[in-house]
Amino acid sequence: MKIKEFHYGGLIMNKILESSGSVIDRQSTENLRNKDNQHYLHPWEDIGSFGENQRTVAVGGKGIYLYDSEGNRLIDGPGGMWCTQIGYGRKEMAEVIARQIMRTPYYSPFNLTNDVSAVLAEKLAQMTPGDLNTVFFTTGGSTAVDSALRFVSFYNNCKGRPEKKKIISRQDAYHGSTYLSASASGKTRDKNFQDTAADIISFIGSPNPFRRPVGMSEEEFRDAKVKELEDRILELGPANVAAFIAEPILASGGVVIPPAGYHKMCLDICRKYDVLYISDEVVTGFGRLGHWFASEKVFDIVPDIITCAKGMTSGYQPLGACIVSDNLIAEISGNTGKGTIFSNGYTYSGHPVACAAALKNIEIMEQEKILEHVRETEPYFLQKVKELEDIPIVGNVRGQGLMACVECLLDPDKQSSLALDYEMGGRIDKKCQAMGLIVRPIINMNVMSPPLIITREQIDEMVQILRRGIEQTMDQLVKDGLWEMPVH
Ligand SMILES: Cc1ncc(COP(=O)(O)O)c(C=O)c1O
Repeated sequence: MKIKEFHYGGLIMNKILESSGSVIDRQSTENLRNKDNQHYLHPWEDIGSFGENQRTVAVGGKGIYLYDSEGNRLIDGPGGMWCTQIGYGRKEMAEVIARQIMRTPYYSPFNLTNDVSAVLAEKLAQMTPGDLNTVFFTTGGSTAVDSALRFVSFYNNCKGRPEKKKIISRQDAYHGSTYLSASASGKTRDKNFQDTAADIISFIGSPNPFRRPVGMSEEEFRDAKVKELEDRILELGPANVAAFIAEPILASGGVVIPPAGYHKMCLDICRKYDVLYISDEVVTGFGRLGHWFASEKVFDIVPDIITCAKGMTSGYQPLGACIVSDNLIAEISGNTGKGTIFSNGYTYSGHPVACAAALKNIEIMEQEKILEHVRETEPYFLQKVKELEDIPIVGNVRGQGLMACVECLLDPDKQSSLALDYEMGGRIDKKCQAMGLIVRPIINMNVMSPPLIITREQIDEMVQILRRGIEQTMDQLVKDGLWEMPVH
């Protein structure tokens, strides 16, 4: 297979670097890696390997591609971190951001408001479903979830029911990295060395149909998962349960797509017991599933609160939001709420430069009909990634919109994890990076959420490299006697 331009990336990268400038002089990869290893603690750092990493140094980007300090061109398979919707190197974004910096680089949201932030709040209210019209700006997804959870607690205190505080979340969920949002996250490995607010959060099982018991239909599995929610509410006591928090598709948990009808049935259960529904759309919002928000358009639910971030600015600026229904606000505001302070917020809530970036990003997505493009491209993307299931080591490929997960299955009984599972995604990523593709490894899975502007030709290229990366990894395992090809 011809990997176009991979090795000629240096020429394009030089052009990008020359035209854009930088606050630092160009430095060698070795020099940069040394600084990184000595001083930069990264998210989810394996502390045992701190100081010994050979990370790819990203120095430029254009469209769906990143350029590294060696001049290699890499397809950005995970879209940064599920966020680079309109792709890299958009001049219009740079211009709007620069203009906003010259006008108002900052205002204090604690006592002032700002033109672009107010306009963005209105725009978001128009984009969200139902009566979700009140926007609380945050600095990213974790702070959006944290604010949603703090709002729920505040709401119940205002309503004079301080015992209604428990939050139900799900295994495999990821909701962020502040103390509270991390506590609501259900990925076991992430909790091994971290403390959490375990007294507040109660976990039910992951709605992953791929892991359902043998012989159980998807409908039976769905009904069992919904029953688990109801049983848990009853066990904790409805008077003690404040909210259920759910990603429409559990993204970092491995693109877990619950069975059809699951969300609606969960919402009905929540309504039955006066439990609020928080839909965490940090990944699924802003076009990933072909709509501004997926809750209503894709899953037919209007939740009480939506959290979003990432694609709102396509990663050009850090910004998040927690958007609350009129109904909830009405219950606690006005005369009832006089003198009651929602003491939650950040110096950079509604940051004007981030809000300007979001408005421009939304405008670009509208003008270029990116939501329509996602809806048109989705079947092709899913068909292409699904073809990877013919590789013997691949157990399951699943996806929706422009997000997908390739899960390798080393242990055919699906129940236990081999030590090798933990290395699989990383091994594949390494092989793929050497051929010009970044994929995001999560244990035995690789997830993809490319920039939403990706073309069919680029999807072909991405999937071809991924196929070669998986096959090479598999062949190596066989060669090293670590895995045996299944006999049919
Ligand atoms: C569903 C979901 N919620 C919240 C977050 C946290 O967002 P952030 O990393 O911007 O704080 C993430 C991040 O990946 C996420 O996937």
